Amino acid sequence: MGWIVTAFKWLVRIVVALVGLTLLTNCTMLGLNYASLEVDNKPDARPEITAATLAEWEAGRDGLIETFEEVVYGPWPEGQAVELVSRRMVDEELAGGRGTLEELVLRVGSGGGARSFHVALALPDAARPVPLIISQTFSSNCGAFPGAPLTAPDGSDCADYEGIPGFVETIFGEFIALVPIDQYFDHGYGYATWQAGELIPDRQGEAQAIMNAMAGEGVTAPTSALSGWGYGFSAIIDAIETDEAINRDQIAVMGHSRHAKSAMVAAIYDRRIAAVVSHQSGFGGAASSRSDTGETVERMIEGVRPFGVLNMEGYPHWFAPAFSDYAERTEDLPVDQHQFIALVAPTPMLLGNGRRDVWSDPNSTYRMAEAADRVYELYGTDGLDQAGMQDFNPAASLSYFLRPGGHSITQRDVDAFLAFLDAAMPQGDDVPGG
Ligand code: GCU
Repeated sequence: MGWIVTAFKWLVRIVVALVGLTLLTNCTMLGLNYASLEVDNKPDARPEITAATLAEWEAGRDGLIETFEEVVYGPWPEGQAVELVSRRMVDEELAGGRGTLEELVLRVGSGGGARSFHVALALPDAARPVPLIISQTFSSNCGAFPGAPLTAPDGSDCADYEGIPGFVETIFGEFIALVPIDQYFDHGYGYATWQAGELIPDRQGEAQAIMNAMAGEGVTAPTSALSGWGYGFSAIIDAIETDEAINRDQIAVMGHSRHAKSAMVAAIYDRRIAAVVSHQSGFGGAASSRSDTGETVERMIEGVRPFGVLNMEGYPHWFAPAFSDYAERTEDLPVDQHQFIALVAPTPMLLGNGRRDVWSDPNSTYRMAEAADRVYELYGTDGLDQAGMQDFNPAASLSYFLRPGGHSITQRDVDAFLAFLDAAMPQGDDVPGG
């Protein structure tokens, strides 16, 4: 009898492990492999960036953006009305009296297709206008500033918020939801955070219906959530750029994973953005779409069926419908992500990576950055200025950071973000607007 019980226990353990493994795979957290540090033995980035002068690059920039719109991200939702619906003080003594926390409600679009979302805005007390980081979060604003009387995405009070489960922090890092506002205040930054899913829900089907409803006379509707979310960053800048407490020349956007992808989209179109922290953006972000390491077009669009058992949905709503035509034939894509990085130039950008976050493909991300470096240099910046994937140079205008560990936001990441932002947006008496 004893052996039956033991066998049963093992069976349960194996099933739990398989389910756990499956979930972890989908969450990009399998973390059993290490990203390769060798970049010279892989194919060159294609199509090659051939512009020899800045004028040549700039002459082709709009055409390249159009191609990305046609096949990858759809149009930028130009012309969508932005309205600051309300702004209220939430906490006048944030972080032990070091600053304030406010809540803004923004509306994007008009009529029946209009969408509203909440922004939590933390500003340090300061004698001069402060640089601002605008960050998209996976969690709600309730998780970003726990305990503050903000509003949850469903309109309920954050007082009812129960916090994210402990295991989420264990896997995705202590700062996956929580904003270490003391640290940002220490470096003089204001910090605005919002949940992108409030603007365009992160759900296939629902997202497409909501984006379709944003179409109207003389306005462009997004056809990808990434562009829609990107537009949210711009809407926030519209709403706060005249605030005298904020240095409008020093507004950075920041995002993790899917939100890192949309932060990059925003920086391409909205040239007011002064710096980008694109952390673990992976596929559809800074990683090559042609690389077969980690995520691919097929897996992105169709989802994953690990072990042929569990059905993990894909994310077709993140991209323009035409992107799915490239499943199984990524070689035919007329663009790759080194060009996407190059379109951000000369705006300083940090590409954060985790060595075990192979799903996000740190290796091809580095190779894409190497190929985009040319364009940063055409703008007269230093571009990617490091000897390899592990030689982090936070002061470079295109900076690549690799730490141990997986798909998460940890203290090491926050240190890297701050080192990069401090270099990209220097503060002090000599800084215009600062
Ligand atoms: C999925 C997706 C990635 C994405 C990630 C995230 O794993 O495949 O492309 O970056 O979710 O947003 O956490």
